[in-house]
Amino acid sequence: SSGTQDFDLKAHIRGVPDFPKPGILFYDISTLLRDGPAWRGAMDRLAEIIRPYRPTLLAGIESRGFLMAAPMALELGLGFIMLRKPRKLPGATIGYDYDLEYGKDRIEMQADALRPGERVVLLDDLLATGGTMAAAIQLLRKAGAEVPAAATLIELRFLNGRARVDVPVETLATYD
Ligand code: PRP
Ligand code: MG
Repeated sequence: SSGTQDFDLKAHIRGVPDFPKPGILFYDISTLLRDGPAWRGAMDRLAEIIRPYRPTLLAGIESRGFLMAAPMALELGLGFIMLRKPRKLPGATIGYDYDLEYGKDRIEMQADALRPGERVVLLDDLLATGGTMAAAIQLLRKAGAEVPAAATLIELRFLNGRARVDVPVETLATYD
């Protein structure tokens, strides 16, 4: 919304060189989380972007996506579900297996988490290669959800993760 256009998220995100490996510049949201008004501003702004998609439920991807989904759910007056690493959730689960650069991974949710017709907006902190987000969308669809959009704080545009994701991805800060 126009009232928050002047909010400069990048001023609150720190680039840490050579983490977790030499040559990688890690965009660290810890500095944003530590600053109450800045964190509030980021969540307020993202809430206004998500609202028009009319979600009935939100989903957060373990672990940093949980930091986004929980306050967003409170802000929008919605519930949220956890998409987790394998064997973390109790009861019956649904999983989706996906390929990494080296090896495989799996994401799971509770089998009874969705009601019919649920519109789930997916939240994570960062879009990099898009592999995590694409898998999360496939899992939600397998469980019967419609996924009108996904949202992150940060997009690493040079990795072109957006090309792997077939829903609109809303982001607040893009790095080239
Ligand atoms: C990071 C980030 C996203 C994902 C993006 O999570 O939080 O979830 O990678 O990468 P991709 O677009 O290439 O899939 P990470 O696996 O580091 O775990 P964390 O959230 O538990 O810190
Ligand atoms: Mg993550």
